Amino acid sequence: MSEAKRQAALKAIEYVEHDSIIGVGTGSTVAYFIEALGEMRDHIRGAVSSSEQSTARLRAVGIEVLDLNNTGTLSLYVDGADECDPHRRLIKGGGAALTREKIIAEASSRFVCIVDPSKQVDVLGRFPLPVEVIPMARSLVAREILAMTRAQPVWRQNEDGSGVVTDNGNVILDIHGLAITDPLALEQAINQIPGVVSVGLFARRPADVVIVGGEPPQVL
Ligand code: A5P
Repeated sequence: MSEAKRQAALKAIEYVEHDSIIGVGTGSTVAYFIEALGEMRDHIRGAVSSSEQSTARLRAVGIEVLDLNNTGTLSLYVDGADECDPHRRLIKGGGAALTREKIIAEASSRFVCIVDPSKQVDVLGRFPLPVEVIPMARSLVAREILAMTRAQPVWRQNEDGSGVVTDNGNVILDIHGLAITDPLALEQAINQIPGVVSVGLFARRPADVVIVGGEPPQVL
């Protein structure tokens, strides 16, 4: 699938305008985008990054990383996804960067999502839905999600058994076994639970364009 990811990422370069500031997501598909964006570094003003991982990659290719508080609205945000439905609604957060990704998507006029064909689904939920949670609320939020959805939230852990800690110092619950027939309603309901920082459902702010890698790439 890495060739399809690369093809989607290269197609997204066509959306980059000269002298603009680009919002940049996180993940292996975005890594190809950053590599290609590096070749344009003299023609853009910089990037706003959604994670420490992408910040390091951007700096490695010579792109300045800017603070979103100083940039105003961005014209373009490019990011991957874990799942994408026919309405361009997404599940994101497999890389634990969902909160900053949501912030940048909201701050951008155009969100271009780059995926390989394996990410396309009719109904979201096969990929466990990530929720970023304030650490002290982990058990409370898990109980409330179980009561609300009847699906099982699982605390995301590293291989050594320690809890995954996000760039914001929080933890992740992954909700397994959902079939998300009303993504907007579920996004709103999970956001209401005290202790939830954000949920990796992008229904209120779906992608504007989805590029599916292939020969040629498909633009949805
Ligand atoms: C990061 O938190 C995620 O939202 C990524 O965008 C998503 O996991 C896609 O990652 P890949 O491009 O590595 O498949």
